[in-house]
Amino acid sequence: MQPVFESWTAEERTAWGSRPCVLRHRLHEQPLFSLDGLAALIDAYPKEHYSLIHMGAQGGRRFWREGELGDINGRETIDAIAGGRMWLNLRRVMLVDPRYRAVLEGIFAELDGYLPGLGAFEPSIGILISSPNAQVYYHADLPGQALWQVHGRKRLYVYPVEPPFLAPEQLEDIALYGIEVDMAYEPGFDEGAFVHELVPGEMAHWPLNAPHRIENLDCLNVSMTMEYWTDDIRRRHMLNVANGILRRHMHVAPRSRATSGPAFLAKAALQAGARRSGWLDGLRAKRRLIEFRLDRGALVPASGEKAA
Ligand SMILES: [Fe+2]
Repeated sequence: MQPVFESWTAEERTAWGSRPCVLRHRLHEQPLFSLDGLAALIDAYPKEHYSLIHMGAQGGRRFWREGELGDINGRETIDAIAGGRMWLNLRRVMLVDPRYRAVLEGIFAELDGYLPGLGAFEPSIGILISSPNAQVYYHADLPGQALWQVHGRKRLYVYPVEPPFLAPEQLEDIALYGIEVDMAYEPGFDEGAFVHELVPGEMAHWPLNAPHRIENLDCLNVSMTMEYWTDDIRRRHMLNVANGILRRHMHVAPRSRATSGPAFLAKAALQAGARRSGWLDGLRAKRRLIEFRLDRGALVPASGEKAA
């Protein structure tokens, strides 16, 4: 199989994880990532592995609703996204289709060569198909992340991992509650951002937990999202959960963000207890509501009312 990455410079190897970087790839040249290939993938995609999100009017209040695909086929779905305001996230595609699992395995085999000692585990990929001018709002993620552009163009903003862009409390809340919290974004933040217009054949990677947001340009966008864990990322996650429990539920302001030593071991035990007892799951209980179905010609809310 042809390598997925074009090449890596010594500087890019050093920069991985410490600052935002953009690398060249060949994913967009593979038939699996052509619009025909993706249409066939959508046709066979099980409901439990995708999210279809309908966005509110541009410039309006930030909101979205989750739905499901109705009686339209993969090509019609892509056409509806191209002409609408929504995004389809084909989550964990490597579990659905072994050909995409092979892509994922190839990527990490190459990464292991370029980044000895990376030690990634639980890698995951998803395919995000989104409408012209769609946005992904300002947020931060817990695992290591990369964004691969396949079709269309989007503008990526990556912000420093420090206040005022991201406070430890915000990261703790994301880790503790298992959901993205409503992170406050100020337009002035953009002055401190790394900004890059991603085109097909480019992959962006950024420092762990770096807040980011995305604006599609005026075209259909297809991207592949990638996540992974390492031992270091897992330790930082355990620390965030434990510090969140201390701060939010035991009313103790955590003083340390160390990921080794006696204080860390105590915190590791604290969060493991919360996990084992089911207390953490209770916190994270969330509802998944199907609000509309995408049918031929219209957005049809599951309630039967006309979509706004
Ligand atoms: Fe993200």
